[in-house]
Amino acid sequence: MSTPQRLKLAGIGCGGRVRTYFELAARMPHWYEIVAAADPQPSRLELARRASGNPGLLCFRSDRELLSQPKLADVMIIGTQDDYHVEPCLAAMEKGYDVLLEKPIACNLRDVLMLERRARALGRKVVICHVLRYTPLYGTIKELIVSGVVGDVVAVHASEGVGAWHQAHSFVRGHWAVTEKATPMIVAKSCHDMDILAWLIDQPCKCVASFGELRYFTAANAPTGAPLRCTDGCPVGDACMYNALRYLDTQKGWLQWVFDGWATASDAEITAWLAQSPWGRCVYHCDNTAVDRQVVALEFERGITATFTMTAFDEGRNIIVMGTKGVLRGGRATRLGEGCDIIVEEHATGQRTRHMARAFAGGYDSHEDGDPGLMYALYDEMTKVDAAQMRSSISRSVESHVIAFAAEEARLTGTVINVQEFRARHQVE
Ligand SMILES: NC(=O)c1ccc[n+]([C@@H]2O[C@H](COP(=O)([O-])OP(=O)(O)OC[C@H]3O[C@@H](n4cnc5c(N)ncnc54)[C@H](O)[C@@H]3O)[C@@H](O)[C@H]2O)c1
Repeated sequence: MSTPQRLKLAGIGCGGRVRTYFELAARMPHWYEIVAAADPQPSRLELARRASGNPGLLCFRSDRELLSQPKLADVMIIGTQDDYHVEPCLAAMEKGYDVLLEKPIACNLRDVLMLERRARALGRKVVICHVLRYTPLYGTIKELIVSGVVGDVVAVHASEGVGAWHQAHSFVRGHWAVTEKATPMIVAKSCHDMDILAWLIDQPCKCVASFGELRYFTAANAPTGAPLRCTDGCPVGDACMYNALRYLDTQKGWLQWVFDGWATASDAEITAWLAQSPWGRCVYHCDNTAVDRQVVALEFERGITATFTMTAFDEGRNIIVMGTKGVLRGGRATRLGEGCDIIVEEHATGQRTRHMARAFAGGYDSHEDGDPGLMYALYDEMTKVDAAQMRSSISRSVESHVIAFAAEEARLTGTVINVQEFRARHQVE
C-alpha cells in the first residue's frame, strides 16, 4: 500500500484556534506537515511554533507577508478575528491555497456569498470550521436519522446553553461582546446550531422568525457601588459570581486564550493584567451589545419545523428530533439524566434504544470533540476529487450563514424573513 502524500499546512492568526489545529495536526504526522505561520505578535508565533512541533516553522509578521511568498503549503488555516477573514481568505485562494476558514465566514452576508462564489470560480476547496459536524454526537445523530429510525423528520428542537461564565468571558467582556465589531450572537456562536439544524433536516429553509435581547448584563443590574473594574475594590466582589478576580483561581483556565504567559504569571501579574484588560471589567459596566437570550423558529421545505433557544443561563447543547416513527433525544441533558448520549424511542412499541457516541481526545472541551474530529476528517475532505462531497464545504456552510443572518434581521425587525428572498437581496453578481 502506498503512503499518502502529506498535506502541508500553514496558519494565519495564531490565536487559540490555529494553535489548537496545529497541536492536533502535529499528532497526525502521517497526514500533515505544518510549515508556516503568520501573526503580528511574536509571543503568538512562538506558541504556534511549539504547537506545530516543527522547530523550523517559517514565521511571518502578517498574512500579507506570508501570502507574498511563493505558495508554501497546500492548506491555509485562517484563524484571525471575525472582522478579518475576507481579505486573507481571498488572497490565499488567489495564491492557490485550499483553505480551512474559521467561522463566521465573514461579518456580513454579501461577503459570505462573495467568498463562496470566488471559491467556486477559482476551484478552491474551502472547509468552514463548523466543528459540530465532526463530533461523534452529531455524526451519530445524522447516521440515525439517515437510517430511518425516527421515520420522516417532522420537527426539531435544539438548545445551546452558552454558560454564564462563558457568556461573560466571550460575549460581555471579550472578543464577541460588541456585535458591531464582530457578528451577532446567532452568527458568532449559534451559526454552529443553525448549521446542525440545516444538516440534520437536509431541506432548504423557507422562513425564519426570532426574538431575544440583551437584558441581564447591563448597567441596570449592577449592584450598588460596583466600580467599573473588579480590581477597583468592589463592595460585593466576594459574593459576585462574575468577579474578574476569579480568573486567579476557579476560572484561571480561560486565561489561556487571552493572556499569553498566563500559566507562569504570578497572582500579582494576573491582577495587574486584569486592571487594564477588557477581562477585568465589571460585567454590568461593559460596552457589550450581544444578546444573552434568543429564540429562533424556522420552517423548512416539506413542512418541517424547528425551534432553537440560545441562552447564557444554561450549559451545553440538547436536541430533540421528532419523527413519524420515533423521537430521538441527545446532548447534555440525556447524558446527565440517562447516562448515554442519545436515546431513540419508537412510537409504536415504546421501545427505547440507547446510543453512545465514540469520543476523540483533545480540542476545546465545549466543542464536544469537534476539533479533533475536524482534523481527523480534514485530510479526507481536502483530498476529495469532488468538492460537493465535502461535509462542511463553503457552499454548504453559506446555507446556515444565510439562516443565521436572516434570524438576526427577523429579531431586529420583528418580522418573519423569507430566506430565499433575503439571500437574493444580498447576492451581488
Ligand atoms: N470553530 C469554533 O468553534 C470557534 C471557536 C472559537 C472561535 N472561533 C473563531 O475563530 C477565530 C479566531 O478566534 P481566536 O479565539 O483564536 O482569536 P484570537 O484573537 O485569539 O487570535 C487571532 C490572532 O490573529 C492575529 N492577527 C491579527 N491580525 C493579523 C494579520 N494581519 N495577520 C496574521 N495574524 C493576525 C492576532 O494577533 C491574534 O493572535 C474567530 O473568528 C472566532 O470567531 C471559532
